[in-house]
Amino acid sequence: MDKITVIGAGNVGATVANVIAHKDLARELVLVDVKEGLAEGKALDIWQTSSINNFNTRVVGVTNNYLRTKGSGIVVITSGIPRKPGMSRDDLIKTNANIVKEVTEKVIKYSPEAIIIIVSNPLDVMTYCAYLASNKPSNKVFGMAGILDTGRYRAFIAEALNVSPKDILSLSLGGHGDQMVPLPRYTSVNGIPIDELLGKDEIDKIVERTRLGGGELVNLMGTSAWYAPGAAAAQMVEAIVDDQKRIFPCCAMLKGEYGLKDIYMGVPVKLGKNGIETIFELQLNKQEKKLLMESAESVKSVMKVLDDMKLF
Ligand code: NAI
Ligand code: 2OP
Repeated sequence: MDKITVIGAGNVGATVANVIAHKDLARELVLVDVKEGLAEGKALDIWQTSSINNFNTRVVGVTNNYLRTKGSGIVVITSGIPRKPGMSRDDLIKTNANIVKEVTEKVIKYSPEAIIIIVSNPLDVMTYCAYLASNKPSNKVFGMAGILDTGRYRAFIAEALNVSPKDILSLSLGGHGDQMVPLPRYTSVNGIPIDELLGKDEIDKIVERTRLGGGELVNLMGTSAWYAPGAAAAQMVEAIVDDQKRIFPCCAMLKGEYGLKDIYMGVPVKLGKNGIETIFELQLNKQEKKLLMESAESVKSVMKVLDDMKLF
């Protein structure tokens, strides 16, 4: 791809940019931030690893200069404030909705064809906010959370079984909050159902740790995570750039799937050069459906805060 832009040169934005460059996914990567010099500095630092890490992607940073992002094929939006201990992702909405709206409008002005991937929290509602601000079809505007959430889930399972995390196959549904729905019934170790390898109590504990996985890191570091979020967003970029048709849980606009409409939430999708190419609807059992609806209710309550802000 000719050009990829990452908005926000903070912890997550710089990490996404670094992984994209390492994978050589674009001829040029533009990193943008409002903070004078931050994007320029981080971009220069990443670019100076090119000869060491063997990549060609030209990484450049700019302060609020959207002209420089012109013609991007993919834009990853990470700008906004992160959580501090004691905060939920939803506490961020008032600040981040304004930022995501403003940034999306600027991005679209110079890259009307871009596929937009949102990372800013509260993720599901910020993705909805970018969708409204961009006026683009929803298969071109979606969010990153499920790859991160299942990344955590897979790491915990690999640790419990002392097996390679690469062999853990799994799915998670719902909003990117404490009500997310990791799905043990859709989890296997290279085909071996997880409940043949771990007892119910152990699985329940892992599911609970996954749901609270973001908070665990906030409590340890005083701010939210970036290595796994950055790698997860870059994996989505890679699937699009290489038209891989990979199936990942991503935050997508639902139009009747799972009995839900006009809401962005995590569901399994096929990612390729056209963005979200298919949304998969699973045959959930009663309990899974109940959990998904609880998660949807939690996302809807945050959507209501966005509505009340009257930005659109
Ligand atoms: P950070 O504070 O390290 O970086 C955010 C950057 O955004 C800062 O450098 C700031 O100057 C910049 N920024 C603020 N307003 C801007 C604007 N109008 N234009 C351009 N840049 C602007 O925060 P971090 O840790 O990188 O997190 C970023 C966001 O991603 C947070 O909202 C966080 O909650 C979210 N997040 C989401 C995850 C997910 O799974 N979807 C995972 C991890 C973080
Ligand atoms: C995470 O899950 C805070 O959403 C961020 O790490």
